[in-house]
Amino acid sequence: MNEGGAAPIGVFDSGVGGLSVLADLRRELPHESFIYYADSGHCPYGGKPAAEIAARAFAISDELIAAGAKLIVVACNTATIAAVEQLRATYPLSFVGIEPAIKPAVTQTKSGVVGVLATGAALAGDKFLRLQAQHGGKVRVITQPCPGLVEYVERGELEGPAVRALVERYVEPLLRDGVDTLVLGCTHYPFLRPLIADVAGSGATLIDTGAAVARQTRRVLDREGLLSASSAPGSLQWRTSGDRTVVAPVVERLLTLSPK
Ligand code: DGL
Repeated sequence: MNEGGAAPIGVFDSGVGGLSVLADLRRELPHESFIYYADSGHCPYGGKPAAEIAARAFAISDELIAAGAKLIVVACNTATIAAVEQLRATYPLSFVGIEPAIKPAVTQTKSGVVGVLATGAALAGDKFLRLQAQHGGKVRVITQPCPGLVEYVERGELEGPAVRALVERYVEPLLRDGVDTLVLGCTHYPFLRPLIADVAGSGATLIDTGAAVARQTRRVLDREGLLSASSAPGSLQWRTSGDRTVVAPVVERLLTLSPK
């Protein structure tokens, strides 16, 4: 039996958005245990400078490692773009990050125009700009920061006229520009998928990367001999830097939703 395999996987996000990735991780790796960290006391990350986001990523990683994590999934595009390279260079364990799915979007588009919905900080990050330059090619990639959307998800408000109006404000101009493939480049947005899909209509396909991140996590654990040897269902604990009485009802609700 591999001793390290029994340890939990750490997963973190600026708040509850990373629960969309956790859902994929638990589907892909049902025998693994997880510790989820919602940095709700510092959410949203999307308008913060990269150095501040990186400082949070380090503080949370220290806590997850102290709690025994064998691998950490950065379930936040913004934190991955701001900090994953520094995290990998600093700690002895593996980090799996998440980035907007430009590559599959560019492969799939028929209109030759792809839209990326993400936070301002993610879209301005060097790592994102490199990704865009590497995969954009002949395809036009239009980026759309979406301030305000994360806050709706943090409150568990996934539908209604106010959040719909904001989604329309961000998505409709992209459709007018010919976008047929929309990348959900923030882990909060899969929880708004039904609404975004409704606004986008049948002419646009939505793409997110949670399932790919879960498969990559499995590959890394396997390569490192760290897959759980247990045949029992894994456990889940969660922590937050926010007010647990406020965050708990939203976490409980989002855990019951499968945002796909
Ligand atoms: N969920 C995050 C992401 O994937 C960040 C949202 C935020 O805090 O602004 O980028």
